Amino acid sequence: MAACSFRRSIASQLSKILDLPPENLIKSISAVPVSKKRLIPADFQLSIDSITEDSSSDHSAQDLQLRAQMLAEKLKCDAVVTEISTGPGTVNFMINRELLAKTVLQQVLKDGSEYGIKSELFSTVPRQKTVIEFSSPNIAKKFHIGHLRSTIIGNFIANLKVALGHQVTRINYLGDWGMQFGLLGVGFQQFGNNEKLKSSPLQHLFEVYVQINKAAEDENTKKLAKDFFRKLEEHDEQTLSLWKQFRSFSIEEYIRIYKRLGVHFDEYSGESFYQEKSQEVLKMLEEKGLLQKTMKGTGIVDLSEKKDLSSFSTVMRSDGTSLYITRDLAAAIDRMNKHNCDTMMYVTDKSQSNHFQHLFQILKLMGYDWAERCQHVSFGLVQGMKTRRGEVIFLEDVLDEARSRMLQNMASAKTTKEIENPLETAEKIGLAALIIQDFQGLLSSDYQFSWDRALQSRGDTGVFLQYTHARLHSLEQMHGNEQLTDVNVACLQEPEAISVLQHLLRYDEVLYRSSQDMQPKHIVSYLLTLSHLAAVAHKTLLVKGSAPELAQVRHNVVMWLKSVWGTQGVLRYGSVRPALELLREYAPSG
Ligand code: ARG
Repeated sequence: MAACSFRRSIASQLSKILDLPPENLIKSISAVPVSKKRLIPADFQLSIDSITEDSSSDHSAQDLQLRAQMLAEKLKCDAVVTEISTGPGTVNFMINRELLAKTVLQQVLKDGSEYGIKSELFSTVPRQKTVIEFSSPNIAKKFHIGHLRSTIIGNFIANLKVALGHQVTRINYLGDWGMQFGLLGVGFQQFGNNEKLKSSPLQHLFEVYVQINKAAEDENTKKLAKDFFRKLEEHDEQTLSLWKQFRSFSIEEYIRIYKRLGVHFDEYSGESFYQEKSQEVLKMLEEKGLLQKTMKGTGIVDLSEKKDLSSFSTVMRSDGTSLYITRDLAAAIDRMNKHNCDTMMYVTDKSQSNHFQHLFQILKLMGYDWAERCQHVSFGLVQGMKTRRGEVIFLEDVLDEARSRMLQNMASAKTTKEIENPLETAEKIGLAALIIQDFQGLLSSDYQFSWDRALQSRGDTGVFLQYTHARLHSLEQMHGNEQLTDVNVACLQEPEAISVLQHLLRYDEVLYRSSQDMQPKHIVSYLLTLSHLAAVAHKTLLVKGSAPELAQVRHNVVMWLKSVWGTQGVLRYGSVRPALELLREYAPSG
């Protein structure tokens, strides 16, 4: 890895002076982020703070500056480092320009789609087994924006982990059990239609559910629903077979829709799997003396430290049946038994934070030490997402809306040419726009959704990312994509070219950050900056009309960029597919 060989070389010199092993220093040396406004006079920096172990020492800005200067004075330039300077609390290193260009070029060529991943930053990270549960909609109920966020965030984390060599199992835990199925069953007997159930199960079941809910005021309907659910719990064959149809048709349709998002699951699990196992959980809780009965007859687990019930979780209804959390307890134990994983993740919005905290606490009380390796990846709420049909009810509506709005934008763009598959192109760009908007902030932040903002062709959007990728692709097609290793890198002196190199140097650090805190925003903002740099380079580093040697090396810059884009497939870990036809049809000025 290019950045690594430089970091190593800087670390080895520092290690002698500071008397610290180089491995301890490598992570403290970071590539300097590229600034839009000016060319930065350094490629790497060491922050003095990060190598200070003694917490009692003076950390004032003045002191840090002084120590940076003292350290810088002891360091010498060599074949790799040509300039050493200091900044506020940092020692800065500039790499030999020719070496910088050559090394980055070779590395991009050599590592291809593994660029960044092969970095030694990851060498000390143990490869792990992860079970990640995401999406998890409820049958016959709304697929809300929270489910969409869970789907794309879970997919991102799973993809990133796989790329970094971890073993990942993706689980979709459907809301496929509970009293709602009693109502749904009765509703289907009254308003159901087998043809519609087959052709559009999600919509039909939702409609039936809405209809029967209106009728549910009526005592008789309530009783019928109760009976239906009881029969279901008793595994009455006919009742169960209808429920099975609801479930399997719904899954079939989901698989088709998830495909549009590039999302897949290894397992379709669901609450229904755990109705019996949750009874075993209740028994275990009882045996361990953790289950307490309330006056009303419900079962609770005391979660307070002082055992004064100041915090508790209800795990059993008064009729002895299980609750959402009981089924989750059973599911967690089953997952761990089956997969024996190092981490177990749950991706849902933050309104369920309490639920997961309780879940992990109870598991711990039950004596499962692995509860500490369970993690709730929570995310913020989104306001204002609407589709043609109004409030979001179906995932497919959101995907269709993104596509049709993009198609409209494309049609009104001035540069309209024939395009082979406008729908597919609009879909790829529209989904990129949706995902990039979602991934731009901290996952825990709430945000206000806006189709207009997401689909802007200028500014930091998925449309801009797709456009940059398409433009680089077409340049590559125009000038050929034979990558030469013996180009004269000495002619790459323009600040625009150096900025590109400096930015490419940072990629492994960015990947590392996202892999540590599970925040897609680092990679997204990296790619957006890369797009801006590419736009500037495109204007200033002309290939056409330049002397052959210069043209050749400049074209290589295009290919490095394209190569990193190729690695990313626009946003590889978000499963965003590149829209290569974009250029022919739609050319916003980015
Ligand atoms: N089906 C649930 C809902 O829509 C989400 C499930 C989250 N996962 C879990 N293991 N509880 O709210």
